[in-house]
Amino acid sequence: MIKFKLNGRDVSVDVPDDTPLLWALRDELDQTGTKFGCGVGQCGACTVHVGGRATRSCITPVSSIEGAEVTTIEGLHPEGKHPVQEAWRDIQVPQCGYCQSGQIMQAASLLKDYPDPTDEQIDGVMGGSLCRCMTYIRIRKAIKKAAAAMREETASNG
Ligand code: FES
Ligand code: FES
Repeated sequence: MIKFKLNGRDVSVDVPDDTPLLWALRDELDQTGTKFGCGVGQCGACTVHVGGRATRSCITPVSSIEGAEVTTIEGLHPEGKHPVQEAWRDIQVPQCGYCQSGQIMQAASLLKDYPDPTDEQIDGVMGGSLCRCMTYIRIRKAIKKAAAAMREETASNG
């Protein structure tokens, strides 16, 4: 039995140690917002946060996250109102939507490192998150919008 925290609650899964976290989340814990793309760590569709950092769940054995805190798109904000999610809606980033939960989780992680990211920083971090619908320009715009909203909030909180 492997135990960890998922979106703030204690969970456990009874699966082989080398089961990718992606499948533990989707098949055992019904968190289907996290998507399967390539399965080899190359596309970003499966990105979640482990200990607050963007992590590709398709290549993360579930046994390696024993005791860790995992956040999926379902837990990023209780009402889906994380500044990145708000900006994504405002700018209408998604097209087919398939890659977008991974994009949002990667972007939320990026903004912890770069509160006012340049195009180069965005491209550097987001470059490995693939979108077949080519929403890249809107993604960049939405990240800047979310960054501005987060900076404003920090400033108003003092
Ligand atoms: S499905 Fe994990 S990186 Fe592509
Ligand atoms: S929105 Fe379709 S793959 Fe990205």
